[in-house]
Amino acid sequence: MGLNDQMSPQEWWRHAVTYQVYPRSFADGNGDGVGDLPGITSRLPYLADLGVDAIWISPFYTSPQADHGYDVADYCDIDPLFGSLDDADALIARAHELGLKVIVDLVPNHTSSEHEWFQAALAAGPGSPERDRYIFRDAKPDGSLPNNWMSVFGGPAWTQAPDGQYYLHLFDSSQPDLNWRNPEVGDMFVEVLRFWLDRGVDGFRVDVAHGLFKEESLRDQVVEAGKTASSDARDAADVPMVERTVRDEPMWDQPEVHDVYRRWHEVLAKYDGDRMFVAEAWTQTPESMAAYIRPGEFSQAFNFAWLLAGWSAEEFAAVITGTMDAVGLVGGSPTWVLSNHDVVRHVTRYGGGAVGLARAKAATLTMLALPGSAYLYQGEELGLPEVDVADEDRQDPFFIRTGEGGRDGCRVPIPWSGTAAPYGFGPGTGQPWLPQPADWAPITVEAETGDDSSTLEFYRAALAVRRTFAATAGDDVEVLDLGADVVAFRRGPVTAVLNCGATPVPLPEGRVLIASGPVDGTLPADTAVWLG
Ligand code: NOJ
Repeated sequence: MGLNDQMSPQEWWRHAVTYQVYPRSFADGNGDGVGDLPGITSRLPYLADLGVDAIWISPFYTSPQADHGYDVADYCDIDPLFGSLDDADALIARAHELGLKVIVDLVPNHTSSEHEWFQAALAAGPGSPERDRYIFRDAKPDGSLPNNWMSVFGGPAWTQAPDGQYYLHLFDSSQPDLNWRNPEVGDMFVEVLRFWLDRGVDGFRVDVAHGLFKEESLRDQVVEAGKTASSDARDAADVPMVERTVRDEPMWDQPEVHDVYRRWHEVLAKYDGDRMFVAEAWTQTPESMAAYIRPGEFSQAFNFAWLLAGWSAEEFAAVITGTMDAVGLVGGSPTWVLSNHDVVRHVTRYGGGAVGLARAKAATLTMLALPGSAYLYQGEELGLPEVDVADEDRQDPFFIRTGEGGRDGCRVPIPWSGTAAPYGFGPGTGQPWLPQPADWAPITVEAETGDDSSTLEFYRAALAVRRTFAATAGDDVEVLDLGADVVAFRRGPVTAVLNCGATPVPLPEGRVLIASGPVDGTLPADTAVWLG
């Protein structure tokens, strides 16, 4: 297992720690209760001090905000809610001054229904070139929908236009899917890439990168007995990766999509400074994920395997081995992620409370020792749990379409300081766009700063130690067998050990570089350590 070091040139992104900023919820510069670009810029020194290398900013483009920015009406402008292009320029410049790279989000699978192309398509009518930029179809002769596909956000993936034709939307009805078989679509996105590269961004996070092309026939999805037709990779979230069977998905992961990324690779390669792009591709196996990072395609792909695994040494070890083997096949470098704006925060996934927090810190420390790059989600460095948002406050289109759950609980604005909402989130008073819990005073940035027992100081320390070896320790990992409940591996000068069991285990020889909790010769349950 492992990669040949000589095949791993040291582009910055190969060993970076990237911090995801969800702009609505990071910092509010103007006091309207919603985060914005000036707010982010004002907090960049905090991120530089935390010790991350890059930030990825979720979409800030012109958007009616039906999916909080993942419904883009203009890819080359900023939504007034978040600021202006000048604010974006100022953010990029300040980040670079502080030594932080900037990755922006690109949403090529669908536009907003308010995008000028979709408005033109509605106006132009069936059979028009304007409609061909999207996926419009007539109902079947019996009047039923064009096929049985379901939206990721629940309900059918088809909505009827006023003239009777249906259009495809794998997400919300306000997010019509583009027709990537129409060359105008590909050309438009190359212009968008250049627009942001010219403004100085260092990379792109590509939304729904496994989407874009659908099987040309738009045939029905074959649905396994006992399951409902669904196109949501995340509905498998409670099923360990190792046990998942590959489902029929004519709407995802089609071979043609790779031509798009080969073209984009060429576009990026013409710019200086190791510009990169990372795929959000919820593919079904490590191997299909690795296909996106073949030479000449994406720089990286998010690896959701660990995030999908339960609290289990066996599952974690399988994820590490499976990931390293898969990326090794294509000479790529791995990525690791435990939380993002789409999933339940890992403190809560691992049981919540003190145990959930201990496990979350332990998993994070283990992940940070691995080769490749890591993605952190805003607020995890404070140990924020998932918030149980009241139904009347929920805004996620998933909740609006299904009446269930949704992703608002991981999107509650960051508590910076003070003892009551908005906890320094912005200059306003009272609750921000999603209400913050009343008991967050002890976990603000202010409260945790300087407290050696805090999650924030733990993250700062872990990132500082990581910096001493991440770029030079190579990509080889030697897995150590320390018992069924233990994940252990050696990478270069560092040995990482994670105890997922219920009782302490002996610590191997070595000097403790950092631990996720108290250690005293043994490694307690729910604790990880780096030994040097
Ligand atoms: C994935 C994004 O992470 C998610 O937030 C969004 O709702 C969908 N793609 C649709 O763009």
